[in-house]
Amino acid sequence: MISQVLKPRRAAIIGLTLAIGAGCALVAHAQNAPAPAPAAAPAAGGGANAARQAADVRKSIFKLIGANFRPLGALLKDNGGYDAADVNKRVTRVLFLSGFLNEAFPENSNIGEPDTKAKPEVWTKHAEFEKDLKQFQDHLIALNDVNEKEKGFTEPFKTALGAVAQDCKSCHDDFKLK
Ligand code: HEC
Repeated sequence: MISQVLKPRRAAIIGLTLAIGAGCALVAHAQNAPAPAPAAAPAAGGGANAARQAADVRKSIFKLIGANFRPLGALLKDNGGYDAADVNKRVTRVLFLSGFLNEAFPENSNIGEPDTKAKPEVWTKHAEFEKDLKQFQDHLIALNDVNEKEKGFTEPFKTALGAVAQDCKSCHDDFKLK
């Protein structure tokens, strides 16, 4: 089961993500032999088109994270409405998707609006950005662990969920244009 695959530590998640990414790249290559390098890992200097593709991949990952996280954020606001199956599904998905972000900010995709809302600081303050990203991933692992243990809308669950929601906000404040 995917949640069992994901339960272990960060390295396993990232490893799985990379393995799947590599698999997709192989499939894409096989189906579409003359196509350029996949957007998730564009060749250096791949031109404006490759840069836009990389930004598109990134925005797609965030769209999926946003769509899956929204009902979790709403739990905090409404202070209830916990549905174990739904929460499990969403936490697992967001945790999994977060692993794709490590490769979602190639240098060439610092192209500004209208193609991306990623601020140049993602690249100029890269160490800080990476720290925010790692904290987000660590908090998601913690949320997944707490949720599996608590199985309900308990204080530890709320705290773990709140930490993740705060990570969305603080990274957006620093690294995303309004
Ligand atoms: C480490 C930094 C970071 C974290 C953590 C983060 N984001 Fe983002 N997010 C960004 C950046 C940068 C963009 C702009 C991407 C772009 O336009 O290329 C973005 C864009 C988005 C978008 C807009 C996607 C689109 O183009 O339609 C959504 C939705 C989103 N994030 C949701 C979330 C949610 C929900 C969380 C927390 C569960 C989260 N993000 C956590 C940095 C972050």
